[in-house]
Amino acid sequence: MSEAPSPSRALMRPAATVLENQEVARGTFRLRIADPEIARRILPGQFVMVRAAAEGTDDPLLGRPFALYDVQHDSSGKPTSFEVVYLVIGRGTDSLSRRRPGDRVDVWGPLGNGFGPSPGPGSALFVAGGIGQTPFLALGRDWLGKATYGDPSDSGRATTVSSATLLYGVRSAGLLAGVEDFERAGIGVEIATDDGSAGRHGFVTQLLADRFEAGDRPAKVVACGPPPMLAGVARLTQAHGVACDVSLENHMACGFGACFSCVTPILQDDGRPDLRRVCVEGPVFPADRVDWSRPSH
Ligand SMILES: Cc1cc2nc3c(=O)[nH]c(=O)nc-3n(C[C@H](O)[C@H](O)[C@H](O)COP(=O)(O)OP(=O)(O)OC[C@H]3O[C@@H](n4cnc5c(N)ncnc54)[C@H](O)[C@@H]3O)c2cc1C
Ligand code: FES
Repeated sequence: MSEAPSPSRALMRPAATVLENQEVARGTFRLRIADPEIARRILPGQFVMVRAAAEGTDDPLLGRPFALYDVQHDSSGKPTSFEVVYLVIGRGTDSLSRRRPGDRVDVWGPLGNGFGPSPGPGSALFVAGGIGQTPFLALGRDWLGKATYGDPSDSGRATTVSSATLLYGVRSAGLLAGVEDFERAGIGVEIATDDGSAGRHGFVTQLLADRFEAGDRPAKVVACGPPPMLAGVARLTQAHGVACDVSLENHMACGFGACFSCVTPILQDDGRPDLRRVCVEGPVFPADRVDWSRPSH
């Protein structure tokens, strides 16, 4: 597992400025926040907590976690802002979707362990279900050697992957968000929809099964999405002997290890499950360490 950065390194931003908050697909928004320091430090697979309380209120009280989508730079190459992409689900994301450029939101991060270095020199497959594609734009750029995230002095450059492909499943075509961003970054995209309105008719796990059937052996599979999809990906990769990490999306209250609202059973070296905080020890875990028989993720 990648080593988690110390929570004390997370930056608290009680009034970060919203630069953009644009609907990019049905109920799906891309939010850009000005913060050069978070933008400079954050790594693919890490996340930030964002809280958008209505003017003059504390509602909602808790922040909501969102994965890094991408980082923007000025003309001299200095990081200036970062983006997350979110689907409106309930109160927190609905409130966030009402923020306009110039509004302020509370942000804390970077949080969590991130995906770690490229498994190069083979290929990488990213499997996303629903809004699970969001961590893979930055990850693909990083592993393909097209962008650098975080402090370059923290790690040497790993061998890049030869190719990266996103297998992207959504319920219906209107929910597809950011396909052009991935293609522009040199990440191949294959789509599956539950209703057949775009790409392959069926679940995204079928795209992965087809690749294995055809003899594809990626250096690594990384998955993010609903737990049943993750469990399916874990089963398939294990059956074909391919390394797989998953990024879990448990409910979180604090995001930095203090409240234990996000714990999930993780199998230890002796095969027994022990509870781990997804916000600190995760959100990225080896798929074969997640206890898929228990319903807390
Ligand atoms: C590390 C991490 C990264 C994430 N990255 C993204 C991202 O990039 N984009 C994105 O859109 N979302 C992401 N999520 C999920 C996102 O945080 C939730 O969708 C959000 O917190 C919902 O908040 P809400 O106030 O709108 O919904 P709430 O009002 O809190 O919940 C509405 C309903 O949805 C259910 N629900 C809410 N969150 C979850 C969850 N995580 N799992 C299962 N059911 C849930 C609740 O039980 C409730 O029924 C991430 C989560 C984690 C842990
Ligand atoms: S969200 Fe508080 S400990 Fe993980």
